[in-house]
Amino acid sequence: METTLCIIKPDAVKNGFEDKINEKIISSGLKIIKTKKTFLTEEIARNFYKEHASKPFFNELVEFIISGEVVVQVLEGESAIKSYRSLMGATNPDEAEEGTLRKLFAESLSKNAVHGSDSSESAAREIAIMDKIF
Ligand code: CMP
Repeated sequence: METTLCIIKPDAVKNGFEDKINEKIISSGLKIIKTKKTFLTEEIARNFYKEHASKPFFNELVEFIISGEVVVQVLEGESAIKSYRSLMGATNPDEAEEGTLRKLFAESLSKNAVHGSDSSESAAREIAIMDKIF
């Protein structure tokens, strides 16, 4: 069994998509083993996204993720990291496949509804950062 970190981002929470997203996660075979609806602090957000610190969109990214409530979740399942990434679809909703979370629920590249860990190293790091909020 593998675990991965999922965040339902402020755009999707504001748009009322939390339950629909979780239905899709559960019907894909993944189990939600931890969940917390909360506001992230700027400190957690900057640490969480630190691999993007040198990117021109870093400040926008941090401002957005702390701009509203998010739902932070740990998902568990067989190949959970890959399986959840394929359920999410491409980062940019314009490129996301039909039926994926980002195709269905995202507004734009920055307001892209959900986050998911991209590797086992990221999953371990991201779950450790978020562990204190559960
Ligand atoms: P996420 O999976 O949360 O990981 C990093 C986020 O950066 C990504 O989703 C996008 O929302 C965001 N992002 C990536 N590229 C850009 C960009 N060019 N401009 C703004 N946001 C971006």
